[in-house]
This record gives sequence, C-alpha cells and structure tokens, in this order.
Amino acid sequence: MRILFIGDVVGRPGRRAVTSYLPVLRQQKEIDFVVANGENAASGKGLTQSVAEELFKAGVDVLTGGNHTWKNKDIFKIIDDPRILRPANYPNLAEIPGRGCGLYDVGEHRIGVINLMGRVFLANLDCPFSVGMELAESLREQTSLILVDMHAEATSEKVALAWHLDGIVTAVIGTHTHIPTAD
Ligand SMILES: [Fe+2]
Ligand SMILES: [Fe+2]
Repeated sequence: MRILFIGDVVGRPGRRAVTSYLPVLRQQKEIDFVVANGENAASGKGLTQSVAEELFKAGVDVLTGGNHTWKNKDIFKIIDDPRILRPANYPNLAEIPGRGCGLYDVGEHRIGVINLMGRVFLANLDCPFSVGMELAESLREQTSLILVDMHAEATSEKVALAWHLDGIVTAVIGTHTHIPTAD
C-alpha cells in the first residue's frame, strides 16, 4: 500500500502543482491512495465545488479541512460528500455539517482518515486528544490502517498527538502551517 499525503494546497499555484504532477506521480510511484488538505484550495481560503472536483479528477481521494473550511460558503454544497472531511473536534458536533472521519476502500484494503484541529494558538475546539483517541479506537474495529491529519499551529501539539496515538494509528501528519518543514 502506497499512500501520498499532501499538505495545504494553496490557491491556483497549489492546484496547478497538483493537477500537473499528481497524475504522473500516482502512476510512477504506484500510489494507491491520496489525501490532500483542501482548506486553502479556492483562492487561498476555503474550498468550492469546482475546485474540489478539479482535485478529485487529478487523483486526490480525500480532501481534509481545517480552520478555513467554512471560509467559502460553496462548501455547504459539497460538505456531505464522503470524500470531504472537516475537523472532528468541534463542540456541539450535532449542529456541524459534514464529517470528521471516514473509511475508504482501496482494493482489498480499508483506510481510515481522521481530521483534527489543534487548539494551541488556533481555535477553541474540543480536545483533539480525546476526540482523536475515541475516533481512532472506533475506526480500529474496521481497519488498522488509519491516517490522521492534525491541522494545527504548534509543532509541539502535533508531536504530542502523535505520541498520544502511537501504536493505534498508522500516521499522524501535520497540516496548516504552509511550510515544508516535514516536522
Ligand atoms: Fe492552510
Ligand atoms: Fe489552516
């Protein structure tokens, strides 16, 4: 199983990079599953229906979100698409459209993807550690292959979550900061 995870795709230059390189890369590297963070894909803030379609057509399987998920109101047209995730740890979750995690079948494998948002310097959401653990444990009943997009400002919070979920999920990957540090 080969998985590609792309951090925040920002605006037209980001989309151009994805649409020109991803189809080739998918083939060359025999990539089975692609997750990209799409919170900035439309004009640098938010996600629209046409932009989401462009990225799916280029080979993205799942688009995750973050603090800019709701910035473009077009998101409400597509938020029920199971390929689109938003952070799972909002308070009053019953009132929030969309989903914070999903299960995706790739050949004979099943992949779980969880989208969380950090709180340090970012947003006053529910605890990503407890919500992340709860979701990871429930997805574990269906698969041991679980990816977590930890959309957060502080590297320390991302690393702490990785330690917290160590042994339970496959990978915790940080998005949001728009810098290629590979922390
Ligand atoms: Fe971002
Ligand atoms: Fe962000």
